[in-house]
Amino acid sequence: MNIGYIGIGKLGMPCAEAIVEKGHTVKGYDIQSCESDLVEIVSSIKDACHDTDIVFVAVPTPHDPAYDGRAPTAHLEPKDFSYDIVNEVLIEANQHMDKDQLLVLISTVLPGTVRREFVPKITNTRFVYNPYLIAMGSVAWDMINPEMIMIGTEDGLETGDAKQLIDFYNTVMENNPRCVIGTYDECECIKVFYNTFISTKVSLVNMIQDVAMQQGNINVDVVTDALAQSTMRIMSPQYMTAGMGDGGACHPRDNIALRYMAQELNLGYDLFDAIMHAREIQAENLAKFLVDIANEKNLPIYIHGKAYKPKVSYLDGSYSLLVGHYCEKYDFIPTYIDPYTGDDFQPEMPGVFLMAHSASITYEYTGNKNTAKDELYCTIPVGSIVVDPWRKFESKVNDVIHYGNTRKR
Ligand SMILES: NC(=O)c1ccc[n+]([C@@H]2O[C@H](COP(=O)([O-])OP(=O)(O)OC[C@H]3O[C@@H](n4cnc5c(N)ncnc54)[C@H](O)[C@@H]3O)[C@@H](O)[C@H]2O)c1
Repeated sequence: MNIGYIGIGKLGMPCAEAIVEKGHTVKGYDIQSCESDLVEIVSSIKDACHDTDIVFVAVPTPHDPAYDGRAPTAHLEPKDFSYDIVNEVLIEANQHMDKDQLLVLISTVLPGTVRREFVPKITNTRFVYNPYLIAMGSVAWDMINPEMIMIGTEDGLETGDAKQLIDFYNTVMENNPRCVIGTYDECECIKVFYNTFISTKVSLVNMIQDVAMQQGNINVDVVTDALAQSTMRIMSPQYMTAGMGDGGACHPRDNIALRYMAQELNLGYDLFDAIMHAREIQAENLAKFLVDIANEKNLPIYIHGKAYKPKVSYLDGSYSLLVGHYCEKYDFIPTYIDPYTGDDFQPEMPGVFLMAHSASITYEYTGNKNTAKDELYCTIPVGSIVVDPWRKFESKVNDVIHYGNTRKR
């Protein structure tokens, strides 16, 4: 294929050269002078777009230099990236391209940016968002052996545009990577949260290092190796479904105790506090969501599942109770329905139902079909609105809201 590359910097040049090595022809344009034995360097965006099938854009989305992390940033006011360069380049590329061509943006942007800033400006050609998970030092290798290919489209469906890009990558990639096709916004999220997961992981293991230094008698490697090999829960797809918050007799309590430890050891920061704070605000957000619907429709609130997890009687650290606590803050006393806690209740009136339990998600790892079978604790009266934070429940007779899925269905 004939490929155009706009922005042949740290990411763009090694990628453009890797594409040439796979037998394609690449023309590259950059505002800085560049040299390559493989990529034909051209002197304008127009030339980079001329007579090409696909044009990639890998120009910077810079931050204020004060925000790059080499000096403290936590005290600075949070700021978005700057999109001026991407805007300028896309507007110009759009002028020189037509519907037979595909314009592909690689640059990293925050969720919502593509739809808000760029899509309205791309009128002449076809467009997809395709962020890269590439690390400096191994750009060319990462390019042809990616963990996944993300392709963002308008509605998250595999359009012909996405298919064209996948077909192209099939000629370039060496590891037969999985392809994730989502909305622009979903792919923006995958990219930035992928990086944030890494930052969180590094912060956590380095926290154990700090604890070792302060506590004594600890080799951080013994601790992190044990955790790294915990493939049942920690290093696994477990706990990767968004839903109700962490609960039970141990986790919330342990975090609270660890806040005390952070103080005692003088760590100077308290990630546990941030985690517990987020857990509470997330519960309050969910409660407000229920209360708003209950107010609007004049319905009571039922919390389907009171124990901290399905099919047990324990109320310790129950996130259902925490959500109920916040419902009460907004003047709604919920009714709990859970036969395992003795809260047998058969509602006769419709209401707003929070489906707090999902046995299939909670117990999937056991492989036990009975334990992992979802269970309805009551009949849901017709006219109810069901809010399911696990996005599993379907009904022909009641409205169901899959909390966390805001795609237009
Ligand atoms: N470097 C990485 O490992 C990496 C990984 C994933 C994503 N990204 C994202 O890719 C984008 C590019 O990153 P990078 O590291 O290659 O940055 P970079 O600064 O090394 O390269 C960008 C290039 O674009 C050029 N450029 C600037 N304005 C231009 C214009 N108007 N027309 C044409 N070229 C122009 C610059 O001269 C530069 O050579 C960023 O959004 C970054 O977040 C980078």
